[in-house]
Amino acid sequence: MEILLAKSAGFCFGVQRAVDTAYEHADEENVYTYGQIIHNEEVVGDLTKHGVQVIDSDDELLEIKDSKVIIRSHGAEKRIYDILEAGGNTVIDATCPFVKKIHNIVREEGQKGNTVVIIGDSSHPEVKGIVGWCVEPPVVIGSEEGAEAFVRKYIDGEVKTADNISIVSQTTFNYRKFNYIVDIIRNKLYNVTAYKTICNATSVRQREAQEIASKVDAMIVIGGRNSSNTQKLYEISKKECENTYYIQTLVDLDLTTFESVSRVGITAGASTPNKIIKEVHGRMDEMNFEELLKNDESRVSIKTGEIVEGRVIDVKPD
Ligand code: F3S
Repeated sequence: MEILLAKSAGFCFGVQRAVDTAYEHADEENVYTYGQIIHNEEVVGDLTKHGVQVIDSDDELLEIKDSKVIIRSHGAEKRIYDILEAGGNTVIDATCPFVKKIHNIVREEGQKGNTVVIIGDSSHPEVKGIVGWCVEPPVVIGSEEGAEAFVRKYIDGEVKTADNISIVSQTTFNYRKFNYIVDIIRNKLYNVTAYKTICNATSVRQREAQEIASKVDAMIVIGGRNSSNTQKLYEISKKECENTYYIQTLVDLDLTTFESVSRVGITAGASTPNKIIKEVHGRMDEMNFEELLKNDESRVSIKTGEIVEGRVIDVKPD
C-alpha cells in the first residue's frame, strides 16, 4: 500500500501558538482558557491535568476573578475581554493574528458606517468572536442559498444595508465557496468590497487534501469532531474520493476497510496533534508489513533478521 501523507497535516501556526501559550502557563495557579484551547480532547485533557481549566459558560466567566485567562486562537467577542478585565483578571490573548486582523477590519469598516457581511458558520466560535467586534449587527451568510436569500430580501426591501458593503470570511471557509458567495452578492448589489480573510494555512491544506484525494483509493481525514477546518477537509476529500473516512484518533480506524486498498491518503485538521497523525501513519505502514508477513518468501527473510524494504526487523525467536 502506498501512503500519501499531506505535508500540511497537523497544527497550523495559530493553533501551535495557542497550545504553546497554554503550556507556558501550565502548573501555575488559577489559569483558565476561554473555551477549549483546541478541538482535541487529548490535549485539553493533558492541560487539565496540569491545572489549566476550561471556562465553558457565561456563568463561569462571571465568577472568575483575579486569574489568568487565555483566549484561544479562534478569538472571542469584545464583551468577553470586558467581563474578564472587570473581574480583575489578566487576559492572555492567543487569538491567531489572522483572526485578530478580521476583528480589526470589521471594527474599522463598521466605524466608517459600512454594512459588514461575514461569510462563515454563525455557530462557530470564531464567527461569534468576529460578530462581537462589529459596530452594528452584521449579516452572517453560510452558503450560496443564504447569499441568494440575502440578495432577494435586499431587492424586496426586507433588509436594508449601508451604501457600502464590506465582506470578510471565517478563516477556515472553503475558498471556492467564498468566491461563489461573493459573486452572488456582487452581481446584485453595488459598492461591495470583499476582504479575502481565508487563512493561507487553510487554503494550502484544502488544496493538498483535494489533490491527494483525487489520486487515492481511500482517504483518511483526522481531526476533532467539532473542528470546522477538519470537516471542510472531509467534504473536499469526499468529493474526490468516495472512500473518505473521518476519524478522531487511531481507535476510530476500521482497518478491514483498507485491506484491498493500494493507495491511501492521509490529511489532518489544524488542531490535530502530530502524535495522532504519526500513529495513524504508522498503523497504515504496519499494514504493509503485515502484508509482507502473509507472503511466505518475505516470512523467510524476516525470520533471518534481514533488512526488509529498508527496515531492520527485530526478530524474536519462535
Ligand atoms: Fe490562524 Fe489560520 Fe490556524 S487563521 S488558527 S493559522 S488556520
